[in-house]
Amino acid sequence: MTTHLHAPPISDEATRRRSLAKYRRRAAAYDSTCGPTWSIRQRSIDRLQLQPGQSVLDVACGTGLSLPLLRQRVGDDGQVCGFDHSAEMLAHARARIATADWGNVRLLHTPAQALASVWASTRPVDALLFHYTHDILRSADALRGVLACARPGARVAIAGIKYFPRWLGPLNAWVYLKNHAYNGAPGELRSPWDRIAPLLADWSFETTQWGMGYIASGTLSEAPMP
Ligand SMILES: C[S@@+](CC[C@H](N)C(=O)[O-])C[C@H]1O[C@@H](n2cnc3c(N)ncnc32)[C@H](O)[C@@H]1O
Repeated sequence: MTTHLHAPPISDEATRRRSLAKYRRRAAAYDSTCGPTWSIRQRSIDRLQLQPGQSVLDVACGTGLSLPLLRQRVGDDGQVCGFDHSAEMLAHARARIATADWGNVRLLHTPAQALASVWASTRPVDALLFHYTHDILRSADALRGVLACARPGARVAIAGIKYFPRWLGPLNAWVYLKNHAYNGAPGELRSPWDRIAPLLADWSFETTQWGMGYIASGTLSEAPMP
């Protein structure tokens, strides 16, 4: 008889189905929930050190809240691309772009796992923003798909939710439930960055929100993802 000490891992497809169902319900009110993390968004984008004329990929861009900040930094001559698997979230991002009338911001409707084939001959980007993209950070296939679209040496910034340190452990049930509301695979909150961190040089890390959040950044190494 086999005893499972941990829940068996959920497949990427099951995770995505759960995520899609959650964002179908959440899309309309999503922006109104993002006020408290606005400074984390700004600080994450600062860590990309974007220059005018550069290109940046907004990973799982959702409703496109980061797009104006990214567009502002790369300017008229740069390129901003966002992708997401949720049609409902992307509809808001599309409306944002149409209102601003930017010619150099584009969106792709695709899962991260299929991004590399959609990207194909497009030039690799100079920077990647992973802002609250837990499901993607926890999937090897999703990460591989995203990293294939960036050049070696690209700047990478990551922000998200994590468990409080052990001495605040009793609060972690609440952290899990908070993450559950937004993700298909809400666990693995001890160190959600641990798949991507080994692939980045110049790793820099800080905690936010009294330890239940983090911002990290680095530079994509030459070595391909295993
Ligand atoms: C918490 S929201 C963050 C949205 C945006 N990055 C932001 O900062 O506002 C997470 C987003 O990840 C998207 N997502 C989750 N799994 C995905 C996948 N495998 N491929 C593409 N998008 C995914 C969801 O649809 C959702 O829009």
